[in-house]
Amino acid sequence: MSPARFDNRPIGVFDSGIGGLTVAAALRRALPNEDIFYLGDTERVPYGNKSPESIIRFARQDVAFLMRKGVKTVVAACNTVSSVAMEALHKSYPGLPILGVIEAGVDAALAAEAERITVIGTRATVNSDSYRRALHAVNPGLIVETLACPLLVPLAEEGVCDDPVTFHVFDLYLSELRRNPSDILVLGCTHYPVFRKALEHYFGGGLRIIDSANACAEMVKKYLAENSFGASPRKKGISRFFMTDLPSNIQESAGRFLGEEAGRVEKVSLDV
Ligand code: DGL
Repeated sequence: MSPARFDNRPIGVFDSGIGGLTVAAALRRALPNEDIFYLGDTERVPYGNKSPESIIRFARQDVAFLMRKGVKTVVAACNTVSSVAMEALHKSYPGLPILGVIEAGVDAALAAEAERITVIGTRATVNSDSYRRALHAVNPGLIVETLACPLLVPLAEEGVCDDPVTFHVFDLYLSELRRNPSDILVLGCTHYPVFRKALEHYFGGGLRIIDSANACAEMVKKYLAENSFGASPRKKGISRFFMTDLPSNIQESAGRFLGEEAGRVEKVSLDV
């Protein structure tokens, strides 16, 4: 019997900012032996209001940075990037496995066997129609609605997650859905899991909420196992956090998305 093969190189994870830390946290739980290198482009967040050309250019620079760090695979922990830039990234970096978050969210939504699905996300995610196309590719009979909620990202970054202002913003985007709820609500933005409790309260249990962070971690775990890419089970994984800007409240806000203290956060430049 040949000895088991392990790959101890880190997994690269990136997002426009700190929202993707919800995915990094799920990966840490699912893959305790893996090293996780997280890049947040905090200098240029948000991506969700930018043009596809800018999002693609930024995403290429994010992936190039992680490649220079020697990662074995990359997770685009950003729905905006996963909606707009995946094809371009696969073309630019053909040898590197790059996984997005949309597929995981779509699989979780399909598993719920709903008839009517609402997806909320950034303007770029909604304009790309990525969720509707992926859901209809499997089940064309589904009723899929998508709603852009751009003000939720700055609220999440400021930690205004369960405040009268939060509920005013929900009213702005979601009051019609509250009157006439669909079966499930997919949180199609990595910033939105911090609103989960407030959203459950807002909808009063009237619809099921799905966030893709855990589903994404399971997808990555399966991918590593199937491709003999996993780290040695004897190794304890470490996490490193790289950000392109360090706002004064970075520790507090990163900790909120990660669900624990982030520890050292390293400021980096994407310039070569
Ligand atoms: N993380 C982004 C996403 O999941 C939201 C923040 C942004 O607009 O850059 O779409």
